[in-house]
Amino acid sequence: MAGFDGVELHGANTYLLQQFFSPHSNRRTDKWGGDRTQRATFIRRVIQRTFATVKETADRPFIVGYRLSPEEFETPGIRFDDTLYLLTQLQEFLLDYIQVSLGNYDRVARENGYQDKSMMAYMYEALNGQIPLVGVGGVRTRQDVANVLQEADLVAVGQQLLFDPKWAVKLALHQDKQMVTADFGSLVMTGDFTLPLRDFLARRYSK
Ligand SMILES: Cc1cc2nc3c(=O)[nH]c(=O)nc-3n(C[C@H](O)[C@H](O)[C@H](O)COP(=O)(O)O)c2cc1C
Repeated sequence: MAGFDGVELHGANTYLLQQFFSPHSNRRTDKWGGDRTQRATFIRRVIQRTFATVKETADRPFIVGYRLSPEEFETPGIRFDDTLYLLTQLQEFLLDYIQVSLGNYDRVARENGYQDKSMMAYMYEALNGQIPLVGVGGVRTRQDVANVLQEADLVAVGQQLLFDPKWAVKLALHQDKQMVTADFGSLVMTGDFTLPLRDFLARRYSK
């Protein structure tokens, strides 16, 4: 009703959907907790309810995507193998895309047995073209875009757009030399940011 074209269910970055799937945060003993099949129940129910609502209310095609974080650092925690299992669950729904939340698109799993290629590449293989995969994490150049598209269907860009809002236009017009390439940390104070964001970014890049 708010006029949006779609919704992304945020199952990443320690938000609620991830908390239910995580053995670290989900210690429930009722039907919403237990083994990973049971810990995926909440995610399944939210997706089912979302699609039911779309069916009931949308008057035009409405995008439903899902974002997930592929692994947690805590023990116990979500391991990459759990994420590949979650993908099999997500594949039962007609999601328009899945986005993997990564700081660097080429990140390799910490878990043994999945070290031959990036997590994104494993996920792309597992999805087998059934649901489009959105890759993200440190994309700054045309080469980065090409690299992501080797192992994903779409590319999401975050930080580069904060510092270089016309980056996508430059990419389309082949003005690569005009893209901002400097280290983000060195750009925070010169960027045209409102105060809360500038302080937030300054803290982030000073770490
Ligand atoms: C300032 C800032 C705030 C962010 N906040 C969130 C957030 O609230 N939720 C989220 O899922 N990801 C958040 N992210 C992560 C981005 O969605 C993205 O996955 C990440 O920055 C990697 O892509 P990039 O290198 O193109 O920015 C944030 C990133 C930055 C730089």
